[in-house]
Formats: sequence, structure tokens, C-alpha cells
Amino acid sequence: MERSPSEQPFFTTIAMTKSISKKTASVFTIFVLSVLVPGNSQTFSRNLSTKSLGLKKEKLSHLHFYFHDIVSGRNPTAVRIASAAMTNTSATGFGAIVMMDDPLTVGPNLSSKLVGRAQGIYASAALEELGLLMVLNYAFVEGKYNGSSLSILGRNTALSSVREMPIVGGSGIFRFARGYAQAKTHWFDIKTGDAIVEYNVFVFHY
Ligand SMILES: *[C@@H]1O[C@H](CO)[C@@H](O)[C@H](O)[C@H]1NC(C)=O
Ligand SMILES: *[C@@H]1O[C@H](CO)[C@@H](O)[C@H](O)[C@H]1NC(C)=O
Ligand SMILES: *[C@@H]1O[C@H](CO)[C@@H](O)[C@H](O)[C@H]1NC(C)=O
Ligand SMILES: *[C@@H]1O[C@H](CO)[C@@H](O)[C@H](O)[C@H]1NC(C)=O
Repeated sequence: MERSPSEQPFFTTIAMTKSISKKTASVFTIFVLSVLVPGNSQTFSRNLSTKSLGLKKEKLSHLHFYFHDIVSGRNPTAVRIASAAMTNTSATGFGAIVMMDDPLTVGPNLSSKLVGRAQGIYASAALEELGLLMVLNYAFVEGKYNGSSLSILGRNTALSSVREMPIVGGSGIFRFARGYAQAKTHWFDIKTGDAIVEYNVFVFHY
């Protein structure tokens, strides 16, 4: 059906009125909202672009270092902080909790370059075999990683040739980190309990 020329202006007017009233309504809505919602301090959640946090492309990094667990001598870097009544009679030392601040170096020799420290707790969490609960942060000091950290939460069957522990997060350069760490005993002194462990860490981050 064709409209008569006389009808055209009428429809146009209606459309204009509609669009003006829509605009007016949305301006009014924004005004009301801006009065009712005074800034971000009152906003619980919002969607963000990764760019707005300065995040670029996600990348995969490989870190390689040696971990020195020194339990003996005058300057231990790992000390037992708690144990249970049964810990001493348990074949696996079940219940023992150790706090560490272990140096991480670029080579197996403790006098090689320090790249960070492993700070946190390991605890004997398995009755039947040596199974450690590892809860720690790697606090890095090397180059662009200085001040950044990775958080590990995992199981370490310390007598296995290779152990794998999840990277559950990180800070600084390692914000949004996820990945895994592989541990391999490089050297172990059965008399003192001191150990050097080689780590290969594979981590996604931005
Ligand atoms: C964020 O985005 C999702 C998916 O696009 C959407 O469903 C949700 O309503 C948005 N949340 C906010 C607070 O804007
Ligand atoms: C376990 O043995 C150590 C020494 O071997 C001793 O110092 C400690 O008090 C004992 N702990 C318990 C809970 O018996
Ligand atoms: C570690 O390095 C020091 C100093 O460079 C050296 O004297 C020592 O023999 C090295 N130790 C090992 C186990 O290679
Ligand atoms: C790491 O950063 C701290 C604090 O900014 C600084 O004091 C220190 O010298 C840095 N270390 C290295 C090895 O760059």
C-alpha cells in the first residue's frame, strides 16, 4: 500500500518526536544514574578489556634454576617449625612442618648468581610415602623479574626422580600466571639432609 503525499509529513513528525523523546529519555536516564551511582567507589563489578590493564599478548616462559634447601649447620635456610607427637616415629615424618627461605641460583653451585628465593612452607602430608605439601612463593630478584613472584601449591614426592607442582598464580610480570614446575634432585646429603634441587618452570603470563 502506497502512502499519499499528504501522509508523509505526518509520519516524519511522529518519527522525529519519537527519536527526540528517546534521546531525552536516555539523557534523563544517564542523569538519574549518575546521581544514584556516584562513581566507581559504589560499583561492585564491571567488565574490562585486557588492554585497559596494560596486558599484551599472553606468552609462555621457561625458567631454569637451582633450589638450595639447607637444613644443617649454623645458617640453615629451612627450619622445622612444628611437628606432631607421632612425627618422630613416622617413617615419613608425617606432620612435620618446615619454613624455608631457600636461595635460588642460576647454577648448581650456591655461589653462582642468585635469581630469587623460595619462601614458604613444606610439610610432610603422606603417611605411606614421602609426600610433601608445598606452599611457597618464588620471590625473584633477577633483571626484569626483580620484585615479581610466582606462587606454588602442590605435592612433592621428594624421592621420585621428577616431581611436578602447579603454579597457581603470580605477581608483577607474572600476573595471571599459570603453569607447572618440575623438580629434580641434583644433589642430596643423606647425613645432613641438605639438598640441591633443579627446577624447570613453564609458565603462561602476559
Ligand atoms: C560483562 O559481560 C558479560 C558477557 O558479555 C555480560 O553478560 C555481563 O552482563 C557484563 N557485566 C557487566 C557488569 O557489564
Ligand atoms: C622428636 O625428636 C627430636 C630429636 O630427635 C626432639 O628434639 C623432639 O623433641 C622430638 N619431638 C617430639 C614431639 O617428640
Ligand atoms: C662452587 O664455587 C666455588 C667458588 O667459585 C668453588 O670454590 C667451589 O669449588 C664450587 N663448588 C662446586 C661443588 O662446584
Ligand atoms: C631489585 O629491586 C630492589 C627494589 O627495587 C632493589 O633494591 C634491588 O637492588 C634490585 N635487585 C637487583 C638484583 O636488581
